[in-house]
Amino acid sequence: MKITVVGAGAVGATCADNIARRELAEDLVLLDIKEGFAEGKALDIMQTSALLGFDTRVTGVTNDYSKTANSDVVVITSGLPRKPGMTREELIGTNAKIVEGVCKSILQYSPNAIIVVISNPMDTMTYLALKSTGLQKNRIIGMGGILDSARFKCYLQKALNCSANDLHAVVVGGHGDTTMIPLTRLATLNGLPVSNYLGADQLKQVAADTMVGGATLTKLLGTSAWYAPGAAGAALVESIVRNQKKVFPCCVALDGEYGQKDICMGVPVVIGSNGWEKIIDYKLTADEQQEFNKSADAVRSMNAVLDTLVQA
Ligand code: 2OP
Repeated sequence: MKITVVGAGAVGATCADNIARRELAEDLVLLDIKEGFAEGKALDIMQTSALLGFDTRVTGVTNDYSKTANSDVVVITSGLPRKPGMTREELIGTNAKIVEGVCKSILQYSPNAIIVVISNPMDTMTYLALKSTGLQKNRIIGMGGILDSARFKCYLQKALNCSANDLHAVVVGGHGDTTMIPLTRLATLNGLPVSNYLGADQLKQVAADTMVGGATLTKLLGTSAWYAPGAAGAALVESIVRNQKKVFPCCVALDGEYGQKDICMGVPVVIGSNGWEKIIDYKLTADEQQEFNKSADAVRSMNAVLDTLVQA
């Protein structure tokens, strides 16, 4: 098994670190455009192997895609991160060009790879990856909902004073501060609805904190987060390479599911060796579906910006 992570910034390097620690591949390539940067990060990670007991070989390369040849999975984290006060959407102009170029280079050497997109604005970058490569839709997966759901669980865990691992909680919709939808109705603690323990106002607060989960960190850190995004990327990769068939909310191409078409958005999917294998229908209520449609409108108008970029 061979995995490539493109972009050795904080998210890419953390994702690579998690992949190596969990020995998800024999070979892991970290690629960056900044001279020597990926080599340095890869060497640093490799120097933890004797301490942590893993045998994944990590190689860093500067923009040499031939070294990524025959990767089974490629994670794209390239592009600018958010600065405080910035929305993910403001990154579209710069990141669209980068992501399109990366997809092309990757497929030149790894025509069968499954592609995981983390770059922001993630829903639109996933849609761009799908449209620009023409790949089978199951091979393009946007990483957003799994991260947002982990943040949802984190805020629920604090409110309930329970283990985050006893919670089931899912965020669907877009990966934006105003487009994501924490499904509080379906959130459970050990199989029981969290509404058994938390009042409506508390649940509202948890949902609100979840939605600005990334923005809160950007404000605190001065740039966007990396531990949770990197770990979320690695969890997704793990379900692919180990064919775990885990259900994660991921950004995938919708063709009528959840009432939407010609768009990539976050919905629960089964993740296995074929990429995303099946969309699970959570049977949204009329109100939830209305929110989902609103979220889709916002994602769609962001996708429309891609056409203006191509013409520019
Ligand atoms: C986040 O929400 C990087 O989009 C990612 O932190």
